[in-house]
Amino acid sequence: MRKDTSKPRVLAIANQKGGVGKTTTAINLGTALASIGERVLAIDLDPQGNASTGLGVPKSIEARTPSTLEVLLGEATIAQAEQPTTIERMHVVPANIDLMAVERDPNTRQSRNFALRDALQAHAVACERDERDTPTYVLIDCPPSLNVLTLNALCAADAVIVPLQCEFFALEGLSLLVDTIEQVRDHLNPNLTVQGVILTMHDGRQVLTQQVEEDVRAFLGKKVYSNTIPRNVTISEAPSHGLPVLVYDMHCKGSQAYIAVAKELIRRERGLEAA
Ligand SMILES: Nc1ncnc2c1ncn2[C@@H]1O[C@H](COP(=O)(O)OP(=O)(O)OP(=O)(O)O)[C@@H](O)[C@H]1O
Ligand SMILES: [Mg+2]
Repeated sequence: MRKDTSKPRVLAIANQKGGVGKTTTAINLGTALASIGERVLAIDLDPQGNASTGLGVPKSIEARTPSTLEVLLGEATIAQAEQPTTIERMHVVPANIDLMAVERDPNTRQSRNFALRDALQAHAVACERDERDTPTYVLIDCPPSLNVLTLNALCAADAVIVPLQCEFFALEGLSLLVDTIEQVRDHLNPNLTVQGVILTMHDGRQVLTQQVEEDVRAFLGKKVYSNTIPRNVTISEAPSHGLPVLVYDMHCKGSQAYIAVAKELIRRERGLEAA
């Protein structure tokens, strides 16, 4: 059978603010997309390695080698580093703590920013040569900072998904990220866009959530997903079992919210919903 080697859609999941739901979104949006037939490659670009853990990769360095680090250094291909997950059609390139070496590397050549982009391009070429399916979506889980790792994601990506927690100062943090995305677009990756902003840990009963949501929607308009992810305890329990919440408890509110967000993402990608 002719393999599908069309170019994947590469989405960076980024916000320099910590703990806003980047990793949870990478894992569960990826799982939801895979469950509706997409071929998903998650790239763990955070030395914390939480996306790898949440997708069931054991924590030892051996189980996580080769990792994103070797891919960035050109010592392993994506095909060599990727691992299957318990989810059909979803793979992960795991990360381990050694990835911190990249952040600390004093070498600041600009070409370093393109390591992930080049690895993904090489992967596409290799898939075509070997007649293997390419992923349809690549989701990159970024660390909570605007460092060289996040820059690699922004240079490799077609678009950025921003998980945003409705709390005080959310908008200030967002403008810094938007400035960075604009600078990357001006100097490094002219086609980069913001795919959308997803409101996470949303609690509609809280006045603060309502006010921040109102401000964010007024500021960013249709960039903000109409579906939101509620604060849901099952979402926070699932990673300790090495499972996406969608596998851990498909019927909980958090799972259903991620399915709704995945469907909205597909509609946005197809241009059926104004973005
Ligand atoms: N919708 C939710 N409801 C309840 N808990 C959540 C939800 N989303 C994420 N969490 C929990 O909040 C914490 C932070 O989430 P997560 O790790 O996804 O954020 P992050 O932005 O990737 O963090 P970091 O910046 O450290 O990488 C985790 O313990 C996670 O389980
Ligand atoms: Mg994270």
